[in-house]
Amino acid sequence: MRLDRFICKSTELSRNEARAFIRAGEVRVNSEVVASESSQVHENNSITLAGETLTPRPSRYIMLHKPRDTVCSNIDEAYPSVFNLLNVDKASELHIAGRLDADTTGLVLITDDGRWSFNIITPENQCEKVYRVGLRDPVADDTAARFAAGVQLQGESSLTLPAGLEVINPKEVFLTITEGKFHQVKRMFAAVGNRVVVLHRQKIGAINLDVEPGQWRYLTSDEIGYFK
Ligand code: URA
Repeated sequence: MRLDRFICKSTELSRNEARAFIRAGEVRVNSEVVASESSQVHENNSITLAGETLTPRPSRYIMLHKPRDTVCSNIDEAYPSVFNLLNVDKASELHIAGRLDADTTGLVLITDDGRWSFNIITPENQCEKVYRVGLRDPVADDTAARFAAGVQLQGESSLTLPAGLEVINPKEVFLTITEGKFHQVKRMFAAVGNRVVVLHRQKIGAINLDVEPGQWRYLTSDEIGYFK
Protein backbone atom coordinates (compact mmCIF):
# COMPACT_ATOMS: atom_id res chain seq x y z
CA MET A 1 0.00 0.00 0.00
CA ARG A 2 1.08 3.62 -0.43
CA LEU A 3 3.05 5.14 2.42
CA ASP A 4 0.58 8.00 2.98
CA ARG A 5 -2.29 5.50 3.18
CA PHE A 6 -0.36 3.34 5.63
CA ILE A 7 0.08 6.38 7.89
CA CYS A 8 -3.64 7.25 7.71
CA LYS A 9 -4.50 3.64 8.52
CA SER A 10 -2.23 3.75 11.57
CA THR A 11 -3.04 7.22 12.97
CA GLU A 12 -5.83 9.80 13.12
CA LEU A 13 -4.00 11.97 10.55
CA SER A 14 -5.65 13.09 7.31
CA ARG A 15 -4.00 12.26 3.98
CA ASN A 16 -2.67 15.86 3.73
CA GLU A 17 -1.27 15.77 7.25
CA ALA A 18 0.40 12.41 6.55
CA ARG A 19 1.98 13.81 3.38
CA ALA A 20 3.33 16.84 5.26
CA PHE A 21 5.12 14.53 7.74
CA ILE A 22 6.55 12.46 4.88
CA ARG A 23 7.83 15.53 3.02
CA ALA A 24 9.36 16.87 6.22
CA GLY A 25 11.50 13.70 6.45
CA GLU A 26 9.76 12.52 9.63
CA VAL A 27 8.89 9.08 8.27
CA ARG A 28 11.28 6.15 8.17
CA VAL A 29 10.75 2.76 6.52
CA ASN A 30 13.08 0.09 7.92
CA SER A 31 15.20 2.90 9.44
CA GLU A 32 15.60 4.82 6.11
CA VAL A 33 13.95 8.21 5.64
CA VAL A 34 11.41 7.96 2.80
CA ALA A 35 10.22 11.31 1.47
CA SER A 36 7.87 10.09 -1.27
CA GLU A 37 4.23 9.71 -0.25
CA SER A 38 3.54 7.26 -3.08
CA SER A 39 6.26 4.77 -2.02
CA GLN A 40 4.84 1.27 -1.71
CA VAL A 41 5.19 -0.27 1.73
CA HIS A 42 4.19 -3.59 3.25
CA GLU A 43 2.52 -4.18 6.61
CA ASN A 44 5.63 -6.17 7.66
CA ASN A 45 7.89 -3.13 7.18
CA SER A 46 8.93 -1.26 10.29
CA ILE A 47 7.56 2.26 9.79
CA THR A 48 8.07 5.13 12.21
CA LEU A 49 6.66 8.64 12.34
CA ALA A 50 8.65 11.10 14.45
CA GLY A 51 10.32 8.10 16.07
CA GLU A 52 7.07 6.27 16.98
CA THR A 53 6.46 2.85 15.42
CA LEU A 54 3.17 2.70 13.51
CA THR A 55 0.75 -0.22 13.58
CA PRO A 56 -2.10 -0.13 11.06
CA ARG A 57 -5.66 -0.77 12.22
CA PRO A 58 -7.00 -4.15 11.06
CA SER A 59 -8.75 -4.10 7.67
CA ARG A 60 -12.55 -4.12 7.60
CA TYR A 61 -14.76 -6.40 5.50
CA ILE A 62 -18.48 -5.75 5.28
CA MET A 63 -21.57 -7.07 3.47
CA LEU A 64 -24.35 -4.58 2.87
CA HIS A 65 -27.80 -5.09 1.38
CA LYS A 66 -28.09 -2.21 -1.06
CA PRO A 67 -31.63 -0.84 -1.33
CA ARG A 68 -33.02 0.51 -4.60
CA ASP A 69 -32.37 4.18 -5.40
CA THR A 70 -28.97 4.41 -3.71
CA VAL A 71 -25.57 4.78 -5.40
CA CYS A 72 -22.33 2.87 -4.86
CA SER A 73 -20.04 5.92 -4.90
CA ASN A 74 -18.60 7.43 -1.71
CA ILE A 75 -20.61 10.62 -2.19
CA ASP A 76 -24.29 11.33 -2.82
CA GLU A 77 -25.12 11.75 -6.51
CA ALA A 78 -28.61 11.60 -8.08
CA TYR A 79 -29.44 9.29 -5.15
CA PRO A 80 -27.92 8.98 -1.67
CA SER A 81 -24.72 6.97 -1.27
CA VAL A 82 -24.94 3.51 0.34
CA PHE A 83 -22.20 4.69 2.70
CA ASN A 84 -24.89 6.69 4.54
CA LEU A 85 -26.18 3.32 5.75
CA LEU A 86 -22.85 2.41 7.38
CA ASN A 87 -22.52 3.81 10.87
CA VAL A 88 -18.77 3.13 11.14
CA ASP A 89 -15.75 5.34 11.81
CA LYS A 90 -13.71 6.58 8.85
CA ALA A 91 -16.18 5.37 6.23
CA SER A 92 -14.28 7.46 3.66
CA GLU A 93 -11.43 4.89 3.84
CA LEU A 94 -13.76 2.17 2.54
CA HIS A 95 -14.53 1.22 -1.06
CA ILE A 96 -16.87 -1.16 -2.86
CA ALA A 97 -15.70 -4.32 -4.62
CA GLY A 98 -18.02 -4.30 -7.65
CA ARG A 99 -20.59 -1.55 -7.92
CA LEU A 100 -24.31 -1.96 -8.61
CA ASP A 101 -26.54 0.38 -10.62
CA ALA A 102 -28.79 2.77 -8.68
CA ASP A 103 -31.87 0.66 -9.48
CA THR A 104 -30.18 -2.67 -8.60
CA THR A 105 -30.55 -4.11 -5.09
CA GLY A 106 -28.58 -6.69 -3.18
CA LEU A 107 -25.13 -7.76 -2.10
CA VAL A 108 -22.36 -5.19 -1.95
CA LEU A 109 -18.96 -6.02 -0.44
CA ILE A 110 -17.13 -3.13 1.22
CA THR A 111 -13.57 -3.01 2.48
CA ASP A 112 -10.42 -0.95 2.94
CA ASP A 113 -8.22 -3.84 1.77
CA GLY A 114 -7.35 -3.09 -1.86
CA ARG A 115 -5.72 -6.44 -2.47
CA TRP A 116 -8.84 -8.28 -1.28
CA SER A 117 -11.21 -6.27 -3.49
CA PHE A 118 -8.83 -6.71 -6.41
CA ASN A 119 -9.17 -10.49 -6.03
CA ILE A 120 -12.94 -10.11 -6.40
CA ILE A 121 -13.03 -7.77 -9.36
CA THR A 122 -10.05 -8.82 -11.44
CA PRO A 123 -11.34 -10.57 -14.61
CA GLU A 124 -8.53 -13.12 -14.23
CA ASN A 125 -10.15 -14.70 -11.18
CA GLN A 126 -13.54 -15.07 -12.90
CA CYS A 127 -15.37 -14.68 -9.58
CA GLU A 128 -19.01 -15.86 -9.86
CA LYS A 129 -21.77 -13.36 -9.20
CA VAL A 130 -25.37 -14.60 -8.93
CA TYR A 131 -28.20 -12.25 -9.88
CA ARG A 132 -31.94 -12.75 -9.52
CA VAL A 133 -33.43 -11.12 -12.59
CA GLY A 134 -37.02 -10.04 -13.30
CA LEU A 135 -37.79 -9.86 -17.03
CA ARG A 136 -40.26 -7.91 -19.16
CA ASP A 137 -40.95 -10.90 -21.43
CA PRO A 138 -40.96 -14.64 -20.72
CA VAL A 139 -37.43 -16.02 -21.04
CA ALA A 140 -36.93 -17.55 -24.50
CA ASP A 141 -36.14 -21.26 -24.85
CA ASP A 142 -32.72 -20.55 -26.39
CA THR A 143 -31.52 -17.96 -23.86
CA ALA A 144 -29.68 -20.45 -21.63
CA ALA A 145 -27.82 -21.87 -24.64
CA ARG A 146 -26.99 -18.40 -25.98
CA PHE A 147 -25.65 -17.26 -22.62
CA ALA A 148 -23.65 -20.48 -22.25
CA ALA A 149 -22.06 -19.84 -25.66
CA GLY A 150 -21.51 -16.11 -25.02
CA VAL A 151 -23.37 -13.15 -26.53
CA GLN A 152 -22.11 -10.04 -28.29
CA LEU A 153 -22.69 -6.86 -26.28
CA GLN A 154 -22.81 -3.57 -28.14
CA GLY A 155 -19.44 -1.84 -28.11
CA GLU A 156 -17.48 -4.90 -26.88
CA SER A 157 -14.81 -6.62 -28.94
CA SER A 158 -15.36 -10.14 -27.57
CA LEU A 159 -18.30 -12.33 -26.60
CA THR A 160 -19.37 -12.54 -22.96
CA LEU A 161 -17.87 -15.45 -21.03
CA PRO A 162 -20.13 -18.50 -20.54
CA ALA A 163 -22.92 -17.64 -18.09
CA GLY A 164 -25.38 -19.91 -16.27
CA LEU A 165 -29.14 -19.45 -16.41
CA GLU A 166 -31.62 -21.10 -14.05
CA VAL A 167 -35.30 -20.44 -14.71
CA ILE A 168 -37.42 -19.78 -11.59
CA ASN A 169 -40.58 -18.98 -13.57
CA PRO A 170 -41.06 -17.61 -17.13
CA LYS A 171 -40.28 -14.02 -16.08
CA GLU A 172 -37.76 -14.66 -13.31
CA VAL A 173 -34.32 -16.28 -13.53
CA PHE A 174 -31.04 -16.66 -11.69
CA LEU A 175 -28.09 -15.60 -13.83
CA THR A 176 -24.49 -16.48 -12.88
CA ILE A 177 -21.75 -14.44 -14.54
CA THR A 178 -18.00 -14.30 -14.00
CA GLU A 179 -17.38 -10.85 -15.47
CA GLY A 180 -18.33 -7.35 -14.36
CA LYS A 181 -18.76 -5.32 -17.52
CA PHE A 182 -20.71 -2.05 -17.31
CA HIS A 183 -24.47 -2.84 -17.03
CA GLN A 184 -23.58 -6.41 -17.97
CA VAL A 185 -26.79 -8.20 -16.97
CA LYS A 186 -29.07 -5.60 -18.55
CA ARG A 187 -27.00 -5.62 -21.75
CA MET A 188 -26.97 -9.44 -21.93
CA PHE A 189 -30.76 -9.62 -21.85
CA ALA A 190 -30.99 -6.73 -24.31
CA ALA A 191 -28.69 -8.75 -26.63
CA VAL A 192 -31.28 -11.57 -26.70
CA GLY A 193 -34.24 -9.21 -27.21
CA ASN A 194 -35.53 -9.14 -23.64
CA ARG A 195 -35.41 -6.48 -20.94
CA VAL A 196 -34.44 -6.50 -17.26
CA VAL A 197 -37.09 -4.90 -15.07
CA VAL A 198 -35.83 -5.99 -11.63
CA LEU A 199 -32.23 -6.80 -10.73
CA HIS A 200 -30.88 -8.13 -7.43
CA ARG A 201 -27.40 -9.51 -6.63
CA GLN A 202 -27.65 -12.48 -4.26
CA LYS A 203 -24.15 -13.92 -4.16
CA ILE A 204 -20.48 -13.09 -4.84
CA GLY A 205 -18.26 -16.17 -4.87
CA ALA A 206 -19.29 -18.16 -1.79
CA ILE A 207 -20.63 -15.09 0.05
CA ASN A 208 -24.41 -15.18 0.18
CA LEU A 209 -26.46 -12.11 1.10
CA ASP A 210 -28.23 -12.73 4.42
CA VAL A 211 -29.10 -9.31 5.83
CA GLU A 212 -32.25 -7.25 5.23
CA PRO A 213 -32.39 -4.29 2.81
CA GLY A 214 -30.42 -1.34 4.21
CA GLN A 215 -28.70 -3.54 6.84
CA TRP A 216 -25.04 -4.61 6.99
CA ARG A 217 -22.72 -6.85 8.97
CA TYR A 218 -19.00 -7.60 9.21
CA LEU A 219 -17.94 -10.70 7.26
CA THR A 220 -16.78 -13.80 9.13
CA SER A 221 -13.15 -14.90 8.88
CA ASP A 222 -14.20 -17.76 6.59
CA GLU A 223 -15.94 -15.30 4.25
CA ILE A 224 -12.92 -13.00 4.24
CA GLY A 225 -10.68 -15.99 3.54
CA TYR A 226 -12.45 -16.82 0.24
CA PHE A 227 -10.75 -13.85 -1.42
CA LYS A 228 -7.39 -13.76 0.40
N1 URA B 1 -25.40 -5.79 -14.29
C1 URA B 1 -26.19 -4.71 -14.49
O1 URA B 1 -26.71 -4.50 -15.58
N2 URA B 1 -26.39 -3.87 -13.46
C2 URA B 1 -25.89 -4.06 -12.22
O2 URA B 1 -26.14 -3.27 -11.30
C3 URA B 1 -25.07 -5.19 -12.03
C4 URA B 1 -24.85 -6.03 -13.08
